[in-house]
Amino acid sequence: MLRHTMVVIAIAAALGACVAARAADAAAGGKIVEQVCSSCHDPASWKGKSAAQIDALIHQVVAGEVLHPRKLTLTDAQMADVAAYWAQEANK
Ligand code: HEC
Repeated sequence: MLRHTMVVIAIAAALGACVAARAADAAAGGKIVEQVCSSCHDPASWKGKSAAQIDALIHQVVAGEVLHPRKLTLTDAQMADVAAYWAQEANK
């Protein structure tokens, strides 16, 4: 219960923090992670990394610059969303 409340607060805070420009959507990122990434990745492994750092790493994977068991095909917006979600989950 407390955990759920904290997630809701974190999402609300994340949305509030980035209304300008194209807001990275942590909630949308969470859905992508759930469907595609969470079978292999635990948010805790991104602890200490900012959304920008995670975003850069995902770009490297999608570009094929980093060895990855599966080819990832994500748009820039999807990568930003996933990065926002992981940064939020890892650093709360
Ligand atoms: C089949 C398992 C699997 C799936 C699914 C998967 N990954 Fe990975 N990923 C790995 C493994 C294994 C590595 C290399 C070891 C590591 O760094 O954890 C890796 C590495 C990465 C890295 C580089 C980490 C670093 O520090 O260099 C990123 C970024 C990443 N994955 C993002 C994603 C995203 C985003 C998704 C979902 C869209 C995803 N992965 C789905 C297994 C997976």
